[in-house]
Amino acid sequence: MLDFPGVKVFAPATVANVSVGYDVLGFAIHGPGDDIIVRTGKKLGLSIAGIHGAQNRLPKDPKKNTATVAAQALLDHLGYDNVAIELEIFKKMPFASGMGSSAASAVAGVFGVNEYLGSPLTKKELLPFAMLGEQVADGAYHADNVAPSLMGGFILIRDNEKHDTIRLPSPTELYACVIHPHISILTSESREILSSEVSLEKVVKQTGNIGAFVASLYRSDLELLKRSLEDHIIEPQRAKLIPHFYDLKEIALKNKALGFSISGAGPSLFALCPNSLVAEEVALSIKTHLKQNKIGSDTYISLINNEGAKKY
Ligand code: HSE
Repeated sequence: MLDFPGVKVFAPATVANVSVGYDVLGFAIHGPGDDIIVRTGKKLGLSIAGIHGAQNRLPKDPKKNTATVAAQALLDHLGYDNVAIELEIFKKMPFASGMGSSAASAVAGVFGVNEYLGSPLTKKELLPFAMLGEQVADGAYHADNVAPSLMGGFILIRDNEKHDTIRLPSPTELYACVIHPHISILTSESREILSSEVSLEKVVKQTGNIGAFVASLYRSDLELLKRSLEDHIIEPQRAKLIPHFYDLKEIALKNKALGFSISGAGPSLFALCPNSLVAEEVALSIKTHLKQNKIGSDTYISLINNEGAKKY
């Protein structure tokens, strides 16, 4: 039986969709995320020794937890059927928040077990296994949270099924402000309300915006980035799930955010900002407005996290 030294890893929170790229665009932030310790277990197979910071709301059954589902898929792929490995999970971010909590668990689980085994696969090769873990949480197969959590930076997914991803550049001065209002939205429900049909007119507008957004990252052109961050398809359908959404958006843009929209499936919100001062002012003004409406919130200010999952 394998008996390697234990490892501790971190996988960061992420912002998926980034306004114009539903299921195909995401970026990672610094700060919130999941820590996982991977060590030799006491019994054969993959088990969860403990989950901390989740108020007993996440499954300890290895067949249901996103971290162990992802890690088990890796073990199956590598042909390790005689191992005893246990995971200790530390949630350092809110879940059902739209900040990629299930993705961070899936990534930390698979990345941690890969590190424990001496890194047989590269980060990019781990992506399909992380996606399987994420799928347990919301039933859909998309990489817009797991890919940036794993690899860092802005990631464009050309094709989710084929795991065809492209790492985009991050303008160095760009700050993200993420606001988590204390309300819960299940990703599965937030996906169910979306219409399966979109008008050609909207597709044309959105295609222009995502193309221009990608170009703005390559050119570090924040004016172009600002013009591009307009979602014609998803935000208009999901805004009703988030109290005061359009007031909050107006406040963010008035405070000079380059763009503002829903983070992933919500309820978290994000703004991309030209510097940390704007990011702080956006965070404070949104928090204040939510508080005036009796909604608590947490805010996170971060440069783009270009590293992704890491070993301590
Ligand atoms: N792209 C996904 C969605 C992200 O918006 O539903 C949340 O998992």
